[in-house]
Amino acid sequence: MEKQEELQQRKLGKGRLLLFPLPFQGHINPMLQLANILHSKGFNITIIHTSFNSPNISSYPHFTFENISEDSPTGCTDLLGNVNNIILLVKLINEVCFDPFRDCVKKLISNSSAEDPIRCLISDALLYFTQAVADLVKLPRIVLRTSSLFSFHVFHSLPLLLQKGYLSMEDSESETPVLEVPPLKIKDVLLTFKNGGEAQSEMLSKIISETKEASGIIWNSFQELEQSILPTIQQEFPIPNFTIGPFHKYFTASASSLLAQDQTALSWLDMQAPLSVLYVSFGSIAAIDKTEFFEMAWGLANSKQKFLWVVRPGVIRGSEWLEPFPAGLLDAVSERGHIVKWAPQQEVLAHPATACFWSHCGWNSTLESICEGVPMICSPSFGDQLTNARYVEAVWKVGLVLENGIKREEITKAIRRVMIDQEGKEMKMRMSCLKEKVNFCLTKGGSSNKSLDSLVSFILTF
Ligand code: UDX
Repeated sequence: MEKQEELQQRKLGKGRLLLFPLPFQGHINPMLQLANILHSKGFNITIIHTSFNSPNISSYPHFTFENISEDSPTGCTDLLGNVNNIILLVKLINEVCFDPFRDCVKKLISNSSAEDPIRCLISDALLYFTQAVADLVKLPRIVLRTSSLFSFHVFHSLPLLLQKGYLSMEDSESETPVLEVPPLKIKDVLLTFKNGGEAQSEMLSKIISETKEASGIIWNSFQELEQSILPTIQQEFPIPNFTIGPFHKYFTASASSLLAQDQTALSWLDMQAPLSVLYVSFGSIAAIDKTEFFEMAWGLANSKQKFLWVVRPGVIRGSEWLEPFPAGLLDAVSERGHIVKWAPQQEVLAHPATACFWSHCGWNSTLESICEGVPMICSPSFGDQLTNARYVEAVWKVGLVLENGIKREEITKAIRRVMIDQEGKEMKMRMSCLKEKVNFCLTKGGSSNKSLDSLVSFILTF
């Protein structure tokens, strides 16, 4: 009897949630993982999306998808790869999506039934315009912040940093610590904010103010990882905060990958000795110039270590793929390494052969590395990557930052420090401790598990 009731309840579900991801890989992955998590808790899911970077609908037969026919900014793909243009693109998405998104939500509300009521909207923090739509249709909005608590605190601190004059400081002061946002240095603040100019300040100000208007925030992080900043976040955003991450431990990122993952990465790793390989990837947006690419190649070749290198098409500015590589150097590199266009990253990091991750420090990559206990070499280029990298080095002490850009001698030295020296062994030990904390926070009674239960109860109050 009880079973029948349970079945009936499951069939009816707990109501429907509307989820709207920002259409970039690093944001689509956590939103779709969150969708799966909430679906497993009994909610029905509708994903609202743009045609630009549309998610893999066939991987999610259990969800409903709504494509809002935005006036897709043609050629916006050409804008990727440059921090200023990413900012303009996010701004553009916030402008052009308003009408079609509002119409879509209105239609979904009017078509909804008492058996499957729409409980709330969950949208990416960067989609700030969605708060006005939620207010208009009187639907509660919960924000998903796909990056760390600390990075959002730094974004929140921008007016103070501007007022203190940090953004007009000279490069000669770049190593000076910024006391207002430890452990950042002036150069981190400059790289995070300076190139974005006024457009970035305006955008961040809207992201922060519209998040404060929301009913709550879901974080892809966990309490034990960012314990010290949690009280500050609760003060800055005095709404319910749910730290339920890391999401990819519930559901992997592979299903939402926009590019095909080259499985030869895993078969190549299978042939390597345990803890012998450096994995190199700069995520889905960051780009480098040709000189940096050569320095990377020489640094890797000179390190004499084995490496798996993701060279994403377009990662080298002005090139399709590997054309800038001189044949001789490609041969030298191929002896020790394997190059792919896109890898099954989570599986690569979990592979016994993987010893170290040289990363741009996107938040998903950082979390995925922590969860597999893999120490990091950090080459952040923009946005939250600077704050993530500084935490890796100075707070968790599980990696190091290439302080002077991408230079072959520094690369080789850093690889030695992390993969061979005693210092690297200590980083690995600290990473293993974090990995254990992750496993604990997800078990029954662990911090993320409890926070997820609170989130479910919170949504049911709507
Ligand atoms: C962007 C921003 O750059 C980042 O700073 C922000 O935190 C999130 O949005 P991105 O640069 O793509 O993200 O980096 P990241 O957050 O690391 O996300 C990349 C995702 O792609 C990860 O889930 C990773 O597993 C996946 N990936 C990466 C692959 O599946 N294969 C690859 O070869 C590389």
